[in-house]
Amino acid sequence: MNKKQIILTGDRPTGPLHLGHYVGSLANRVALQKDHTQFIMIADAQALTDNYEHPQKIHDAVFQVALDYLAVGIDPNLSTIFIQSMIPALAELTLYYLNLVTVNRLKRNPTVKTEINQKGMEENLPAGFLMYPVSQAADITTFKATLVPVGEDQIPMIEQTNEIVRTFNRLYKTSILVEAQALVSKIARLQGIDGKAKMSKSLGNAVYLSDSMDVVQQKVKQMYTDPLHLKVNDPGNVEGNVVFSYLDAFDPDQKTVSELKEHYQRGGLGDMTIKKRLLEVLNAFLQPIQEKRKVLEQDKNYVMNILQKGTAQANEIAEKTLQEVKSAMHLHYF
Ligand code: TRP
Repeated sequence: MNKKQIILTGDRPTGPLHLGHYVGSLANRVALQKDHTQFIMIADAQALTDNYEHPQKIHDAVFQVALDYLAVGIDPNLSTIFIQSMIPALAELTLYYLNLVTVNRLKRNPTVKTEINQKGMEENLPAGFLMYPVSQAADITTFKATLVPVGEDQIPMIEQTNEIVRTFNRLYKTSILVEAQALVSKIARLQGIDGKAKMSKSLGNAVYLSDSMDVVQQKVKQMYTDPLHLKVNDPGNVEGNVVFSYLDAFDPDQKTVSELKEHYQRGGLGDMTIKKRLLEVLNAFLQPIQEKRKVLEQDKNYVMNILQKGTAQANEIAEKTLQEVKSAMHLHYF
């Protein structure tokens, strides 16, 4: 089949993936792999930029993320899955790209800014963390990707990548690097179960793809709905109501969901009822994923072999781009 575009995408391995990852980008990646050339990177080197004190955690999470990828339906025959730190060309390209970005520009990157804030790193900002968008530009451009399926928080990374691409091509009078476009899903961000912010591991408000049904039940029970919807007969609010936003994202029967919303708004529909439905919907969604995950978990060799093969393929491509970049920069001598 004729492949449409090249995709480079990935995740930081800090633990297993959650429903926010699924809605934000995993679902797109599964759908796109059939007619795109897709590379999926487990960004362990990037994960270390704010976890350098916990290398074992990152090491272990690589396997967890690989399990999640395969369990949700990333097909190793259609997508190339690889490990970032095993591709030396990425580190080398990062070094050259660093000349093309100012420290002030990096400090203005909205995603980096938010993270520095959330993690309280203002006073002791590791240089490696500040410059991770440059390494992300290396990830994307090495594979000449034109499409990057990611959550909406990653849009500033793609903008920064494209600036580097333009600067590089202009300065070194070449067109070897190509600009990329972010692909954000219809539901760009999924709220955490607390309803406060987006789902994220660091905020402790996530439902994981690998959560047992008991844990999912606990989390659904705790979910934020409408604090003013006290009695069943009270009219309820569906905006900002986590149960409804998850039903929007996961319920295959959207017609019933809109009927339930109307009923809830009119009054007469209790939180227990909608939570029960959500639990059924999530169970049906997660069950096949978890069955597959359990089988794969028992066969670590099989999973690691997929990563090893993917990494070898990725290395070949990365080495080729590195040589092109170095030629354009007159870094060829013998
Ligand atoms: N920044 C992404 C995250 O936080 C991970 C990542 C690293 C990535 N390099 C990438 C995503 C390149 C898309 C493209 O999870």
